[in-house]
Amino acid sequence: MHTRTTVRTAIAACAMSLSILAAAPLHAEPAAIAARNDGMDIRQGSLRIRVLALTDDVLRVTLSTNGALPEDASWAVPAGVRARRVGVQAGPTGFATRSLRVDVQDGRLVVSDLAGKVISADAIDPVKLDGHAFTLRKAMPQSEHYFGLGDKTGGLDRRGKSFINWNTDAFGFTSADDPIYKSIPFFIGVGGAGGSYGVFLDNTYRSWFDFGHREDGVLAFGAPDGPTDYYLIHGPSTAEVVRRYTDLTGKAPLVPRWALGYQQSRYSYMSGDELRQVVARLRAERVPTDVVWLDIDWQDRNRPFTVDRKAFPDMTGLIRDLGHQGVKVITISDLHVARAAGQGHAPYDTGVQADAFVRNPDGSTYVAPVWPGDSVFPDFTQARTRDWWGSLFAEQVRMGVAGSWNDMNEPAIFNTPTKTMPLDTRHRIDSDDFAPRTADHREIHNVYGMQNTRATYDGLRKLAPGERAVVMTRASYAGGQRYAVTWTGDNLATWDHLKLSVQQIINLGLSGFSYGAADVSGFAGGPSPDLLTRWFEIGAFYPLFRNHSAKGTPRVEPWVDGAAHLRIRRRFVEERYKLMPYLYALAEQNARTGDPILRPVFYDYPSALNLPCAGQDAWTFTLGRALLVLPPPHPESPQGYRTCLPEGGWFDYWTGLPAGTPVPAAQDGAIQSATQATGEAHAGGSFVNETPRLDHLPVYVRAGTILPRQAVVQSTADTPRGPLMLDVYPGPDCTGELYVDDGHSLAFEKGGYLRQTVRCTVRPDGVAIEFGPREGSFAPWWREVAVTVHGWQGKADVRAGERKVASRVDATARTVGFTLDDAAQAGAVLVRRP
Ligand code: GLC
Repeated sequence: MHTRTTVRTAIAACAMSLSILAAAPLHAEPAAIAARNDGMDIRQGSLRIRVLALTDDVLRVTLSTNGALPEDASWAVPAGVRARRVGVQAGPTGFATRSLRVDVQDGRLVVSDLAGKVISADAIDPVKLDGHAFTLRKAMPQSEHYFGLGDKTGGLDRRGKSFINWNTDAFGFTSADDPIYKSIPFFIGVGGAGGSYGVFLDNTYRSWFDFGHREDGVLAFGAPDGPTDYYLIHGPSTAEVVRRYTDLTGKAPLVPRWALGYQQSRYSYMSGDELRQVVARLRAERVPTDVVWLDIDWQDRNRPFTVDRKAFPDMTGLIRDLGHQGVKVITISDLHVARAAGQGHAPYDTGVQADAFVRNPDGSTYVAPVWPGDSVFPDFTQARTRDWWGSLFAEQVRMGVAGSWNDMNEPAIFNTPTKTMPLDTRHRIDSDDFAPRTADHREIHNVYGMQNTRATYDGLRKLAPGERAVVMTRASYAGGQRYAVTWTGDNLATWDHLKLSVQQIINLGLSGFSYGAADVSGFAGGPSPDLLTRWFEIGAFYPLFRNHSAKGTPRVEPWVDGAAHLRIRRRFVEERYKLMPYLYALAEQNARTGDPILRPVFYDYPSALNLPCAGQDAWTFTLGRALLVLPPPHPESPQGYRTCLPEGGWFDYWTGLPAGTPVPAAQDGAIQSATQATGEAHAGGSFVNETPRLDHLPVYVRAGTILPRQAVVQSTADTPRGPLMLDVYPGPDCTGELYVDDGHSLAFEKGGYLRQTVRCTVRPDGVAIEFGPREGSFAPWWREVAVTVHGWQGKADVRAGERKVASRVDATARTVGFTLDDAAQAGAVLVRRP
């Protein structure tokens, strides 16, 4: 039952705040709260606000002035998730869940935790309406920083800036350009009194976010039209916000293991022979590689779903042969369909039959130029169009194509200043709880690319039901991570872009898109040898590692700058392959929890938000919780620099020694730390002084990590030789996660995997290692586990249960190593100083 309480104190403030409403003057109207079992309704004149508790930590706020609240429909949040509710406790000014208080105070919505710490509060004049347009205004505390909004430019932190969501083909974007390719209207506030929280505005129009740019102390967002429908997601940790946001909008599905390998692309490899040569060279130079990409020139006259049969006479044979070398092929299939009437062009003919194309207001088919020349555009918001589109991949699946690249899906249109469709083109909608209707491009533009990838993903899943589908997209909307991985589009071969790429991938990960990539080398321009080498070093730690470059630019395959550069580049690619067990476990963790693969340092180390080395220019990051990467703040500069280790102990990844240990003399080929003395403390940890060296990227391992690694392979299709390697870096809360499965099928959903947690405990006399029970039925590739305990001094005595295990102490490396038979599987191992 609804109860109604009049909130008289709120009247005056609300009257002020709503003063620009076009509707009848409101100041005469009392604001009233009607309690609901699952939230409350607020009425203020003709304004109606509904606040629902989907969970104890996730609120949905909808608002309208015409009596009817917005339609309960979404491209981003599935129906079952939108339908979730928890019971709340009503109070005189609002309600409480088990973790939040939601109150109307002086006409403002204030959300706080149960201790009264404010998480998010409306600003003065919280709602402004102007025709169909709306603005919502929130208070912006001094201490708060803002992240998310996908791969938008402008550095890491959104504070002080303003952004627009309008998917845009932004060839050669600069670090100040906005909007670019994606629209993910979700941000996270970090550093406020009540901890981290997220706001997701589920509105597909040209929405905008302003973080104190227009008005100091005011965080405003809005849209020119569409529903006023947003979710407020409580943390208090940033990780909890991301996990809950991906509970709402979906987790990225686990990719096949090969997708984590090195990927070689080029616009374009022009023939089957050229592709074979590239793969042969990668193998000859021993650069581990899993995927090669075919860009638009694999097609006949740039027409999607055709093959240039002269240049690629035998795609099936080509893909089979490369497959024997452990290399998969991903092909591009853009959304535009060549308008080729009467030419037997099946995608066009069947699309016309299926009435599958976007229309002009007068009912004619919308035609515009893109790569194939005059093209028509699938109406992806229609379910039957998505089904038709998905079926077009049948031939590629038969050829053995491993995944699909959906580009240009903003959608990009040539020869027009807006770079996209006219706003009055007509799209049909008939799914996701939207009332069946025709919508214009203003509403559909930002979800067009996402629905393109949904059609592709669902099509591939149907055509190869046992396999994980891989789709790569340039444009998307919130929730698009359910269908596609992404990259940052047409970046430039500049040092600036190298840094920007990491900041973009960090913000993508916080926005649900955990599989972010940027073209290694920069798409346009052509990198110097040093820049390309550095880009390989950083790219080796991206969630997806793809080298790609534009036509007419210098080649950027790993060998192009000679042996010395190749050696460094190869070593970093190899390091990624060594880390594959760790990386794959992170991918699986991401699929379950939403935790990004590549993270801002404050994700796992919250005090890092305020470290002296944080801030706008920062592009330090972690790969999972365990690995911290500290690239030079000015990557083009040879000058030494000081950077921050967050609190807790750290080990140098390359030497295995505790951070700050003087480095032993260089051994042949080994990467030596360029770290100089540390030990100088700052509030949240310690400083490290680094001397930049082109062959070195500072990487640290958290003390309290068990890091699984393997021998280098040339492809993830190869079984690593030798044991699984477990490097134990003793410290607090010391864990490591083993996860393996067959790497490509969906058998893991039915128990076909192995999961095992390994823990370590530091004791006065050494380290205890505890192998937890194994979950799942999958038999791993290794027979033995080689354990290396770091930071060891003195002799060692190792026992697995009662049994003594032979061990080797290396005094210089400060390690003790021993090998366990995997058949033992579980149990306790004690490493003691006798
Ligand atoms: C777009 C893509 C780029 C691709 C090119 C040709 O510019 O962003 O990656 O190589 O189109 O398909």
